[in-house]
Amino acid sequence: MAKERGVTSANKLEEDIFEKSIRPSNLNEYIGQTEVKDNLSIFIKAAKMREESLDHVLLYGPPGLGKTTLAYIIANEMGSNIKTTSGPAIEKSGDLAAVLSTLEPGDVLFIDEIHRMPRFIEEILYPAMEDFSLEIIVGADSTARNIKIDLPPFTLVGATTRAGDLTGPLRDRFGIVSKLNYYDISELTDIVKRTSTVLDCPITDEAAVELARRSRGTPRIANRLFRRVRDFALVMGNGDIDIDITQIALDKLKVDKLGLDETDYNLLRSIIEKFDGGPVGIEAIASSIGEEQTTIEDVYEPYLLQNGFLKRTNRGRIVTDKAYKHLNIDKEDK
Ligand SMILES: Nc1ncnc2c1ncn2[C@@H]1O[C@H](COP(=O)(O)OP(=O)(O)O)[C@@H](O)[C@H]1O
Ligand SMILES: [Mg+2]
Repeated sequence: MAKERGVTSANKLEEDIFEKSIRPSNLNEYIGQTEVKDNLSIFIKAAKMREESLDHVLLYGPPGLGKTTLAYIIANEMGSNIKTTSGPAIEKSGDLAAVLSTLEPGDVLFIDEIHRMPRFIEEILYPAMEDFSLEIIVGADSTARNIKIDLPPFTLVGATTRAGDLTGPLRDRFGIVSKLNYYDISELTDIVKRTSTVLDCPITDEAAVELARRSRGTPRIANRLFRRVRDFALVMGNGDIDIDITQIALDKLKVDKLGLDETDYNLLRSIIEKFDGGPVGIEAIASSIGEEQTTIEDVYEPYLLQNGFLKRTNRGRIVTDKAYKHLNIDKEDK
């Protein structure tokens, strides 16, 4: 049994199905990330005019900001098919060779969590990305030889939450590198309204803004909260979402006014109570609240840092005055 988690995580399979159903399928429907979108749109048009495959694209940024969505949109806008895999799924060189050998001209190959691909496999990717060639060793010992197979031109789209974990040589082979940023309230409000239309579930403007405010800059969380609030609206009202239902639902879900959930609270509180506000290392924080270190680093910390609740120093993390205030803890009493 999985332990009870905050809104930043949820049932994976159920959510995957839901997300597929509301994913925008072209650049026009993709809200926000204007700079990334504008650039991509030019590169896609140019590639089409030259009748070439699009340059390889690396997308990075925190979870839930629309990397996978964008990979599918790129394929769609290019009029190509997409094949998908992920870093952890590629264990042996044969795994990658197998995927590469199924590619057809112009295909998009999407590798999610590309930073988790084993290093020795990167070496196979280099010639594939640069010259569209696949070099494999056949036979063993004295009969072993290298053979080179031509691949069709394709576009590799890599997604990662940690661009810093990619090796330099791999990163350098992406012609287009785009960072996705947290969304602002007005963009998230548009995303919430779009979801309302797609799901045919009305929401008032005021409620949409409130949901947006509490979604920690993240479309996935906005959509997740939307679904939960929709349940409350159905059971407590006539199914339409208004501000009262939204506030009741979000309070029950323990999502505060700024989108912090129980794990954020645990994290901040534990640094204050057990480590005197810091500085404290990430390992110590992780073990004190029983979360994976990578989950803290990829999911919780970026938002807390961005919003000034947490600061990173070379001696560890420290909790800011803003966090003490927000948690209603008197710093002098500690
Ligand atoms: N720019 C956007 N406009 C509208 N919806 C978005 C946008 N970005 C993400 N979403 C929604 O958020 C969900 C999560 O996005 P996803 O691409 O899976 O994030 P990531 O791959 O970065 O973790 C998707 O189901 C999609 O519906
Ligand atoms: Mg994804």
